[in-house]
Amino acid sequence: MTDSANKGSASGDGPVLTDRQGHPVYDNQNQRTVGPRGPATLENYHFVEKLAHFDRERIPERVVHARGATAFGYFEAHGTFGEKPISDLTRAKLFQEKGKRTDLAIRFSTVAGGRDSSEVARDPRGFAVKFYTEDGNWDLVGNNLAVFFIRDAIKFPDFIHSQKPDPVTFERQVANRVFDFISQSPEALHMISIVFSPRGIPASYRHQQGFGVNTYKWVNAAGDTVLVKYHWIPKEGVKSLTAEDAATIQATELGSHTKDLYDAIGRGDFPEWELKVQVMSDDEHTELDFDPLDDTKVWPEQQFPLTPIGRMVLNRAPENFFLENEQIAFGTGVLVDGLDFSDDKMLVGRTFSYSDTQRHRVGPNYQQLPVNQALGTKASTNLRDGNMAYHVDLGEGQNPHVNYEPSITGGLQEVAKPAHEEQGPVITGRLTRKRIPRTNDYQQVGEHYLLIEQWERDDMVANFIDALGQCDRPIQERMIWHLLMSEDELGLRVGEGIGISPDDVRHLEPLATQTLTEAELDRLASLGKNGPRDVSGVIMTHCVPNKREIVAT
Ligand code: HEM
Repeated sequence: MTDSANKGSASGDGPVLTDRQGHPVYDNQNQRTVGPRGPATLENYHFVEKLAHFDRERIPERVVHARGATAFGYFEAHGTFGEKPISDLTRAKLFQEKGKRTDLAIRFSTVAGGRDSSEVARDPRGFAVKFYTEDGNWDLVGNNLAVFFIRDAIKFPDFIHSQKPDPVTFERQVANRVFDFISQSPEALHMISIVFSPRGIPASYRHQQGFGVNTYKWVNAAGDTVLVKYHWIPKEGVKSLTAEDAATIQATELGSHTKDLYDAIGRGDFPEWELKVQVMSDDEHTELDFDPLDDTKVWPEQQFPLTPIGRMVLNRAPENFFLENEQIAFGTGVLVDGLDFSDDKMLVGRTFSYSDTQRHRVGPNYQQLPVNQALGTKASTNLRDGNMAYHVDLGEGQNPHVNYEPSITGGLQEVAKPAHEEQGPVITGRLTRKRIPRTNDYQQVGEHYLLIEQWERDDMVANFIDALGQCDRPIQERMIWHLLMSEDELGLRVGEGIGISPDDVRHLEPLATQTLTEAELDRLASLGKNGPRDVSGVIMTHCVPNKREIVAT
């Protein structure tokens, strides 16, 4: 039966179209009306449901990292840490046996742009890995540049606002707003100088490094802890673009990185990274001139060598972009036994923020979605109900009436405690609101500038000149002051490009939020005339060779 005068589109040999109630749909071309010219009626179930669902197709995009691409694959462990079994340092099960594979999902992303923005924007890239281990999920949520802009989570919303479009005009990434914030936040100098080098525009997601960035801990069976930093090293090597190369690409294609990733997987050219770690003993390391918990710093490799512990291979693209890319949810709180947090003040803020935003963005039951489930084991919880509850997290043999603990009538039980009572060093201190004492905001900026390749230095200088040239004079002066404090040549070259000399900025006092060390006060006294820093023997992971991927115009 049809009340439509038109013939339907059905050929009769494809899968049948139904509505969400399972009713076959015999006319998907014409709504039900009183006569062919209307008016329409409200009881048009299929028509109203279809439009109402469409009206709700979008969920809020991520507040940061909105543009991204997910892929799937596996992690294969080496089982060792150098010559030793890895169990000496961590009891995390996924690392223990040579050749052991753990399924994983990864999401690469840009940070500042919206969901459909250009993937060759100058921006850090997110590098978030979800390991579906036998002990539950482990998320390692990092980036491609090794460090971050700020070291205290309380500054994150301000920092992101300065990067996002102007709240009045909605103009994107206004240089004056970006550098207004950066010029007053000297801890951001290291990261911003990397973002303004070619590494700020990777040639593809396959040709970039990945870093956990924040410092974590490993715990062994005896409860002994070490501090650890994670590094993903791409088998394909590191390749980057200049702003010109990027402009050529984005003139015709905004999603070039996603396309490159899925094309490579599609032709069986599976991207691969080696996972390497740096470890140090779990204490304050007062002998160092930086704080090992400071995420604006790298740990120099000559002191803390990189040790390989496994590899990651990506061999599958998502079957559905929305289900597996928009709804996937990572968080720094998602750890497994044998891994732990450090006291890094960013990490604690991040750990609150991720699941909080996912409850808002995806919904309170986001962990029940297939891509977020603990696929390597089974979640058995007493969490119940809430919007879009999809199933009950019943344990094997759990009495379904008992959704509480403790119980002696068939409810879930706690597992046995670890053999050791406590772990990690004793922490004492007064409640306070203070910066960390060892800020050392300029040394690694200068070292990085001197250790990268000449074309990268030239590109960094040109990019700074372009952006700072658009800023107000007081912002320009403070930025040149910071760059000179970092490395003479960097400050002098950028200063020359925007017409500001060391003499123009020599009078500036340190920021009220800064406490310069003796060495830094000496640099300030000879601003622009300190000579190059000594980088002999210094090895930094984020200074490995970087090839320019030249794009034909
Ligand atoms: C206190 C500082 C930070 C806060 C409060 C914060 C907060 C957030 C939030 C709210 C999201 C969106 C998550 C979602 O909607 O699912 C996000 C995404 C992300 N953040 Fe952070 N973030 C911080 C620092 C960092 C740092 C230092 C890194 C890198 C080391 C980082 C890497 C990422 C990545 C990779 C994503 C995207 C995850 C995905 O692909 O779904 N964030 N962050």
